[in-house]
Amino acid sequence: MKNIPVILMGCGGVGRQLLQHIVSCRTIHANKGIHLRVVGVCDSKSFLVAPDVLTMEFNDTFLMDICQIKSNGMSLQTCVDSGKCESFSYPESTKKLTNIASSLAFTLVDCSASSETVKIITQAVNSGCCAVLANKKPLTSSMEDFDNLFLHPRRIRHESTVGAGLPIISSLNRILSSGDTIYRIIGSLSGTLGYVMSEVEDGKPFSEVVKAAQALGYTEPDPRDDLSGMDVARKGLILARLLGQRMDMSSIKIESLYPDKMRPNTMSLKDFLANGLPLLDSDIETRIKKASSNGNVLRYVCVIENSRCNVGIQELPKESALGRLRGSDNVVEIYSRCYNKQPLVIQGAGAGNDTTATGVLADILDLQDLFP
Ligand SMILES: NC(=O)c1ccc[n+]([C@@H]2O[C@H](COP(=O)([O-])OP(=O)(O)OC[C@H]3O[C@@H](n4cnc5c(N)ncnc54)[C@H](OP(=O)(O)O)[C@@H]3O)[C@@H](O)[C@H]2O)c1
Ligand SMILES: *[C@@H]1O[C@H](CO)[C@@H](O)[C@H](O)[C@H]1NC(C)=O
Repeated sequence: MKNIPVILMGCGGVGRQLLQHIVSCRTIHANKGIHLRVVGVCDSKSFLVAPDVLTMEFNDTFLMDICQIKSNGMSLQTCVDSGKCESFSYPESTKKLTNIASSLAFTLVDCSASSETVKIITQAVNSGCCAVLANKKPLTSSMEDFDNLFLHPRRIRHESTVGAGLPIISSLNRILSSGDTIYRIIGSLSGTLGYVMSEVEDGKPFSEVVKAAQALGYTEPDPRDDLSGMDVARKGLILARLLGQRMDMSSIKIESLYPDKMRPNTMSLKDFLANGLPLLDSDIETRIKKASSNGNVLRYVCVIENSRCNVGIQELPKESALGRLRGSDNVVEIYSRCYNKQPLVIQGAGAGNDTTATGVLADILDLQDLFP
């Protein structure tokens, strides 16, 4: 049996689902000769670690206790009394993690939403560990951070950072390593904005659709976090950098679906929903009618082409894969030498704890050959 030590950063919706998948896949993994040995878990405050990472692990009961405690909104610190782990808080936690990385090769999994993890991941990878990311932030800070992180590209997987479990990154990597030239990527990479754009197409007012999406739990608590386009831009940046483009967030042109005067620091959420949003209806309606008269539809997409990355509303042919998109699926069209007239299309659910955690788990398994 091959033992793969795992340390998880982030124990929210995705991190907990990952721990559950690890436990429920024990037999499937054992049949492949693999055992995932979870030796540490951290949240924003504490790092819990097995007393001896070389020989011990958190057993499945303890992993499920951790999930329970975190989903009750309590701190990981609550688990310390169990005697099954040691606990460290920042900055000792970072030192401890660095220490472990110098004596044990493990897979460091980032299911946090923090921009602070990039340094420790880079350090771990450079001392021989592997890393799997669902968190986009380590990949979207400076080019320098990105270069340092990818000094050992074979030790890093980050499929779930774009399109959750969909095989977008792995498909791009296969195309790129075969020497096929990618001319253009265009994708609807926000389930929320995909839903909103397909609903307004049916004639519903933009404000009503956004409020309905919020009520269905499709949006962030403040829907402006989705409407700003920042999350799509982060995904666009990851794809653009994958194609070799050396750019930063600041070089991406982002169309926000609300004006500056309705920003969260200027207008309360309540005011935005009641009074701000409805002011945006007529503009969207006019644009939809104009597109429709050309036989087109509007989609909120990221376009990567000619060394540029733009994020915003585009008019697209009704009959294209993106034009046919309904609901909250993600869709990516990839145009290359081989996929020239007809693009390669990848479509499916692009969010959700389950699909995201599944993508992370598949990445961890993908790196198995790097362990003895
Ligand atoms: N959910 C999705 O559909 C989806 C899809 C694709 C990608 N992702 C990405 O996956 C990541 C996790 O998403 P989520 O929905 O699970 O987020 P979440 O529920 O907000 O959970 C984030 C977790 O990270 C912990 N954390 C924060 N700062 C940390 C740090 N410096 N070190 C270690 N842990 C830290 C938090 O700790 P506390 O518990 O103490 O607050 C929390 O447990 C995000 O980056 C997200 O963008 C999510
Ligand atoms: C993901 O997990 C969080 C935390 O448990 C939960 O609030 C949220 O509803 C889940 N999202 C989905 C789509 O299941």
